[in-house]
Amino acid sequence: MAERKTEPKPFLKWAGGKSQLLEQFENYYPNELRKKSIKNYVEPFLGGGALYFYLSRKYNIKNAFLSDLNKDLILTYIVIQQKSEILLDFLEQYQNLYNSTVQEKRNDLFLSVRKHFNEQRFEINYKKLSENWAPRAAQFIFLNKTCFNGLFRLNSKGEFNVPYGKYKTAAILDTNNIATVSKILQNAEITHSEYSNCYSKINEKSFVYFDPPYRPLTKTANFTTYTGMIFNDDNQIELAKFFRKIDSEKGAKLMLSNSDPTSINPKDKFFENAYRGYNIFKVTASRAVNCNGNGRGKINELLITNYGKA
Ligand SMILES: C[S@@+](CC[C@H](N)C(=O)[O-])C[C@H]1O[C@@H](n2cnc3c(N)ncnc32)[C@H](O)[C@@H]1O
Repeated sequence: MAERKTEPKPFLKWAGGKSQLLEQFENYYPNELRKKSIKNYVEPFLGGGALYFYLSRKYNIKNAFLSDLNKDLILTYIVIQQKSEILLDFLEQYQNLYNSTVQEKRNDLFLSVRKHFNEQRFEINYKKLSENWAPRAAQFIFLNKTCFNGLFRLNSKGEFNVPYGKYKTAAILDTNNIATVSKILQNAEITHSEYSNCYSKINEKSFVYFDPPYRPLTKTANFTTYTGMIFNDDNQIELAKFFRKIDSEKGAKLMLSNSDPTSINPKDKFFENAYRGYNIFKVTASRAVNCNGNGRGKINELLITNYGKA
């Protein structure tokens, strides 16, 4: 029987994921990507990697530098890249365990995995792939697929503290996708690092996509801290300076996403000022918009580029 071809897609739910915007983004990629003169893709706020997976299946990205400041996220990508078979065995065990646990006991199961995940972080050497990485990556995926809304949130002690999501079914094991993602990742260098470390990986044949934690639209907006640290306005300004620096020194094609403050306050010129001289486009997303984060609505998001629209 012919093997079923799977298109690589994010293996996690990740806040701010770009899956729903990929079609709209088509109008804003650099022409050089279509002409295949882009040789190198760089994504320093990787998260769920929706854009990377999309571009690698559509434009055949040969060489990528992917990084993020979330240690367990990067550990999991590296395990998928290098130890996917072992990971799949662990995921199968978690899937069976979840399926065979009655609904009333699933919260206990979730909490025991979360407790172990939080306690074990002190024993992990994040710098060197070792035997305890694959079971940890499996726990990370289990927690992501069973916690409330797939959120990743750390408290001030660095503990993952999202509650159980009460799902009847949870797709913990997706063998085809993990195998496909693993193949795609063979061409990628994956590192746990601060975004500015991508500097040395960029040249004039690079396409760099920045998807930082969004600037919150309201003071009461839910703050997602993926790393236990807040990405505040000063950090946004630093990032804008970094964008300018690469633009002037590397000649790479740059694209950056963020929230659009003018959705809430038309007088808020934060990004207009920070990215003056660049193209600022608006795309429409469906996101949680009210203060408690429960409601969804259409909202504009910004797409900033240092090259013109195709
Ligand atoms: C909006 S999410 C990215 C969403 C992603 N592009 C997707 O499609 O799912 C932002 C990511 O930036 C990471 N991050 C936060 N601060 C960072 C920093 N200073 N350097 C690098 N990554 C950072 C977070 O861990 C998070 O995964």
